[in-house]
Parts: sequence; C-alpha cells; structure tokens
Amino acid sequence: MRCALIPALALALGLATVGAVAEPLDVAVGKALFDRMWVPAPASTLGSDGLGPLHSARSCAACHASGGGSKTAARADGSIDPSELVVRLGSNAGPGDPVYGLQIQRLGTALVAPEAAVAFDLVPSPDPTLGPTVTAVRLDALAYGPLAPDTRIEARRAPSLRGVGWLARIPQAMLEVLADPHDRDGDGISGRLGTGRFGWKAMEPTITTQTEAALVTDLGLSTPHRRTHAGDCTSAETACTTAPHGDSGHAEGVEIPAAALRALVAYVAALPAPASSADADGVAVFLKAGCAACHVPALSDASGRSVPAFTDLLLHDLGPGLAGSFPEGSALPAEWRTAPLWGLGAGVRRGDRFLHDARAATVDEAIRWHDGEAADARRRYLALAPDETARLLAYLEGL
Ligand code: HEC
Ligand code: HEC
Repeated sequence: MRCALIPALALALGLATVGAVAEPLDVAVGKALFDRMWVPAPASTLGSDGLGPLHSARSCAACHASGGGSKTAARADGSIDPSELVVRLGSNAGPGDPVYGLQIQRLGTALVAPEAAVAFDLVPSPDPTLGPTVTAVRLDALAYGPLAPDTRIEARRAPSLRGVGWLARIPQAMLEVLADPHDRDGDGISGRLGTGRFGWKAMEPTITTQTEAALVTDLGLSTPHRRTHAGDCTSAETACTTAPHGDSGHAEGVEIPAAALRALVAYVAALPAPASSADADGVAVFLKAGCAACHVPALSDASGRSVPAFTDLLLHDLGPGLAGSFPEGSALPAEWRTAPLWGLGAGVRRGDRFLHDARAATVDEAIRWHDGEAADARRRYLALAPDETARLLAYLEGL
C-alpha cells in the first residue's frame, strides 16, 4: 500500500464529528421498512407481503438490530445461534450452487420446505498458532438433495451498518490512490480494489446495490433492479418458484417499489457513525505495529471531512488460515476487505465475536489470526511490550 497520505490522515483522528444529512421523511419511512416483519403472500396487509418463499430472516433488523450487526456471543454449548450468521455457497467458478443458490435459506413459508437446518459450532482450530477456534458450519436435513460436489460453504456475520453512509461518500479516486496491487512500494502490502466497497469481499458498489442484494437474497423480496420474486430460489426448487408472490399487488410489479427502496437506503445511509472515546495515547502503538497500513485511521469524503473508519476499503490477502473457499467478484478466496474498526468497542462490550465468521472471541484473537499481507503487523504486535499491548487493546476498545 502507498502510505504518503497516512500521517496526515492520522492527525485527523478523534477530531472528526460525523453527522448525517437526508430527507427526514424518507429516513422515518425507511426505518419502518428496515424494522418491518415481512409476511408471505398473499396477505391482507398488502405492502408487507412477498416474503421468501425461501428466506434467511423476516426483516433487515433481524440481522442488523438498530442498524448494528450480528450478535455472535457464543452459547453455553459452544455454538453460535443459527440466526446470527449466514451460510454462503460457491465453487471455483464463483458464488452459488446450482440447486441451493447463493445462500442456504434456513426458513421457508408454509408451502415451501426450508433448505436445511443450520448449526455453527466453535471447534478447535487446525492451526492453533493463529487462534484457538474456527467456526464450523453443519448442514442437516438438506431438503433439495445434496450440494453439488464442488460446492463449498462459508459462514459470514452481518457487519454493523453504523457509518456506512460515510463509507459510501469516500471518493473512488481515494481508494485508487491507496491501492497498490503490485506492491510497487515493496512494503509487503498490496491492497486491491474490490468489485465494489461493501460487504466482507467488497462486492457491492453502493448502499443501494447492497440493499437490493439483501432484499432478494436474505428476505426473498423483488426490487426495481432485481425483479426475481422468488429471491434466492433456483429453477431446481419448483415449489418455491411456483409459490404465490407479492408482486402483483404493486403498481411497479415488484415487492419493493423504487420509493420504498429509496427510503430504506436513506435510513441506512443516515445511521450515525460510531463515536470514538479512544485515548489518543494508543495511536502510537497502533502506528508502530503497522496496523494503519490497512486500517487507515481516517479517509476524507469529497468535501474534505474526515471519516475515521479505520479501513482502506481495499482487499487484502490475510493468508491461508483466514481464507474462504471461493472467489467473489474481484476478491480471491484469501482476500477480505479491511474491516472498519470504528464501533469495535461496542462489539466488545456486547460480547460479540470478531472476523468474518465470528471465529475470534476477543480482539487479541482477531489480531493473531492476521497473516499473509498482515504477517509483519502480526509479528510486530506479538513483539510489543506488555504495557504497549495493553495500551493498544484499550485504544481499540475505545473505538
Ligand atoms: C440474514 C441476515 C441478514 C439480513 C436479513 C440482512 N443482512 Fe445485511 N448483511 C448481512 C451479512 C452476512 C452481510 C455481509 C455480507 C457479505 O459480505 O457477504 C451484510 C452486509 C450488509 C451491508 C454492507 C455493510 C458493510 O459494511 O459493507 C449493508 C449496507 C446491509 N447488509 C444492509 C442490509 C439491509 C438494508 C437489509 C434489509 C433489506 C439487510 N442488510 C438484511 C446479513 C443480513
Ligand atoms: C494487510 C492488511 C491489514 C493489516 C496490516 C492489519 N489488518 Fe486488521 N484486518 C484486515 C482485514 C482484511 C480484516 C478482515 C479479516 C476477516 O474478517 O477475515 C481485518 C480485521 C481486523 C479485526 C477484526 C474486526 C472485526 O470487526 O471483526 C481487528 C480487531 C483488526 N483487524 C485489528 C488489527 C490490528 C490491531 C492490526 C495491527 C496489529 C491490524 N488489524 C493489521 C486487514 C489488516
């Protein structure tokens, strides 16, 4: 990564106050849509129907309560609640299984069998030097036959949405400046542009495309640009494709018309960014360990306002230990978008787990999993004096 920008950006740390601008009415309507529990069609409540038939949840808020992310604290039996993570499918050819589609749908409406029973177990890690546990996915009672022989599965947690409106406003040109795909500066860190900037794989370019993907894939609702009324059902799942749907009740022939989509996006984009209470003392250790090479403390929006999200929104190869099992968009299996660190403290206080599949119980564990392009930062982290480690962790927990 090219880092001439970083010292200047680091100075902006902690000084930024980020607010939000949007039409208040759209935001209020959007919040109602975000929280709405969708029901299957046909229903007497036209405008709330069209769910599924196969789906992963009944509302956006089921996975992003109050605009936050998955609640991934482990249960007493060492598992994570099946409603808190999603199961993605893919092969060397990219995302998807010919029968089950992009995602295992744990839920179905009355007429359509759910695709599988899903469980997430925290099991001993194959490489304990990196971390003690990984998240294993268990699929039982696959209702539509076996997965294709080359289909692989990955668990993903829902990130917090607070501040995504600010991430959307970072000019693409700034990401292009930070990217260093061929590591020309020889620091061992490349950083490649994703297909977009949202999601763990930086797949979706805008909040609107990400929201439409969620409506279709997670809830089974059709949208202006994704007019498939049966969501993630494939043509192999006939009970699903022939089940009643909610499109016909709407003038535009989709379950989520353009105005509703706009309101939903306005609400998500207006979610306030997490406020930092980090003690500036820890920044020095953060910089010393080389974390800022990817977790760039602050980027600027087009009007020059600081966005202290601690990400470069680029893809980095974090090594085989964290690697997923299929490519997505421009992201290779081992590449992940630098996770924003703002809001990390709220996750710690809530007892959440970290990394894309919630395998890490603590921030310390999350850092130890870093490898690949982050191997040097990991090495420097492990070499810190105990008081420096304590300062760094306290700093991160204040974000
Ligand atoms: C079943 C759980 C689930 C539901 C329901 C859900 N999401 Fe998500 N959301 C996720 C997961 C998992 C990701 C990460 C996706 C990935 O990278 O593969 C995500 C990512 C996002 C992101 C990108 C955040 C970022 O930092 O890049 C946005 C925006 C978002 N969701 C909005 C929504 C909206 C709006 C709805 C309702 C229409 C919704 N989601 C419904 C699980 C869910
Ligand atoms: C080469 C780029 C890179 C460097 C250097 C780096 N990180 Fe990361 N970091 C990432 C990526 C990419 C992820 C997401 C990985 C995943 O979820 O599988 C991540 C995830 C994290 C997470 C988990 C966040 C969450 O919400 O789950 C924490 C905490 C973190 N990094 C802290 C650090 C610290 C502290 C340092 C310095 C010691 C550091 N990182 C250095 C790229 C980097």
